[in-house]
Amino acid sequence: MIQTISTRPFSDQRPGTSGLRKPVSVFQQPHYLENFIQSVFDSLADEVKGATLVLGGDGRYYNREAIQIILRMAAANGISRVVVGQGGLFSTPAVSAAIRERGAAGGIILSASHNPGGPDGDFGIKYNIHNGGPAPEPLTERIYERSKKIDRYFILPPTPIDIDTQRTFQLETMTVEVIDPVTGYAALMQRLFDFDRIRELFASGFRMRFDAMHAITGPYAKVIFEKLLGAPAGTVINGTPLPDFGGGHPDPNLTYAAELVKMLNSPDGPDFGAASDGDGDRNMILGRNFFVNPSDSLAILAANATCVPAYREGIVGIARSMPTSRAADRVAQALGVQCYETPTGWKFFGNLLDAERITLCGEESFGTGSNHVREKDGLWAVLFWLNLLAVRAQSVENIVRDHWHRYGRDVYTRHDYEGLDSEAASALMDALRQKLPELPGTKHAGMVVSAADDFAYVDPIDGGRTEHQGLRILFADEARIVYRLSGTGTKGATLRVYIEQRETAPEKMETDAQILLRPLIETADILAGIRERTGRDHPDVIT
Ligand code: G1P
Ligand code: ZN
Repeated sequence: MIQTISTRPFSDQRPGTSGLRKPVSVFQQPHYLENFIQSVFDSLADEVKGATLVLGGDGRYYNREAIQIILRMAAANGISRVVVGQGGLFSTPAVSAAIRERGAAGGIILSASHNPGGPDGDFGIKYNIHNGGPAPEPLTERIYERSKKIDRYFILPPTPIDIDTQRTFQLETMTVEVIDPVTGYAALMQRLFDFDRIRELFASGFRMRFDAMHAITGPYAKVIFEKLLGAPAGTVINGTPLPDFGGGHPDPNLTYAAELVKMLNSPDGPDFGAASDGDGDRNMILGRNFFVNPSDSLAILAANATCVPAYREGIVGIARSMPTSRAADRVAQALGVQCYETPTGWKFFGNLLDAERITLCGEESFGTGSNHVREKDGLWAVLFWLNLLAVRAQSVENIVRDHWHRYGRDVYTRHDYEGLDSEAASALMDALRQKLPELPGTKHAGMVVSAADDFAYVDPIDGGRTEHQGLRILFADEARIVYRLSGTGTKGATLRVYIEQRETAPEKMETDAQILLRPLIETADILAGIRERTGRDHPDVIT
């Protein structure tokens, strides 16, 4: 019995860098979630009617309620089958893998990624297409346009649906399949990596801590590390997904994963540390007393790809988001393959992966991935590092330092100013944009500006053009400052300043990035008037 409910549009349902992300209270407004889901179904009509969808989320507050509503709407909209993770749980990369494996039309992921959860936290929805990747811009635009006009949605009457038992059942004409969200993903990882080698590494006494940050990767990590790879119980910490992530910020960086960082910095700490975010697509890699910058991580994985069974034949190309350091470019050059520079956001890698132009891709924001799915993949990156550590039998720090000695070091930092007044932040960017044409040829901190622009991208596969993706100031000697406003924050504006400089002198390999980059950090402030315009004298997060 399908109900048609009349509704009216909300004005704020434009999907951002990673879907629609808002405070929970916004999603709890009557019809809000329903409108967005119906806009997705209406925009896809022919593609999803009679098709299979994958559904799950990172377990945050409102996940369970949203799953119930979406199942009732999917049945009312003529979807033929929905594959849902038991308990409504599914990591983002595992949804991507499941869409591909089952030939599904797409998937719906419920997550606000690394944003805090709980009744006062954030919630989010993302639609992924048949290749397993985030909806490309023309589709998100269509969904947004539809959301501005919507006046009705279709839904089954309220009825509790059991999503906690693995089984297959009918919801009117739709089949619902509740599956274990871990099994298929773990099997995929076993096909990609040398589990025997990694098992030997653990058996030899190698010690690791994986921090799931009370988010989705806990169940995956326990099966993969502690069961399949024989790591001792307790290797995975904060391994039970909680609706509010234990009150924390499920973002694996030096600020929010402080507990893990402390363990790795203690005298009898483990050899290797890693963490993932709310929905399991990000990764942070740590050695003893050593942080691996995500830009370096991408370059190192690329340089060592042939250590891993899945990439034994070599890689066809690499892509990195524009603000990611140019460390990967050096490796691509050495390998004789192309390195593509895309706007921020995973969706830009999809076309390159589908066209087999690239094998690996990554972002400075703790995102790394490959052609095995169409999302970044936190546990995949951790397993890649483990495979590397097992084969090279060196410490994390030594692997990174060897890499710098060979390719040079792209010293890198990102400074985030969070919760800024939106108008002040836009004014800062506008003023700097105006100033860009005057910058080439001027000298700052002893370096001459060679070029300055507002980054635009033309997709080499479909020709689509994306503009205003960050203000770049390039210096001679391969130093660079990039400014962009975040597209994922939900409170005020977040200004991200990305600063990098190339060093090849051996004595510069040991020095801390913040020290090496100090003059350029100062320059970044002066050129954009950060202190003056925002009233802040230091960033909230330094990576
Ligand atoms: C941030 C990251 C970006 C990433 C996105 C989704 O977006 O900077 O690299 O793709 O989260 O995880 P931003 O807030 O900068 O728009
Ligand atoms: Zn995420």
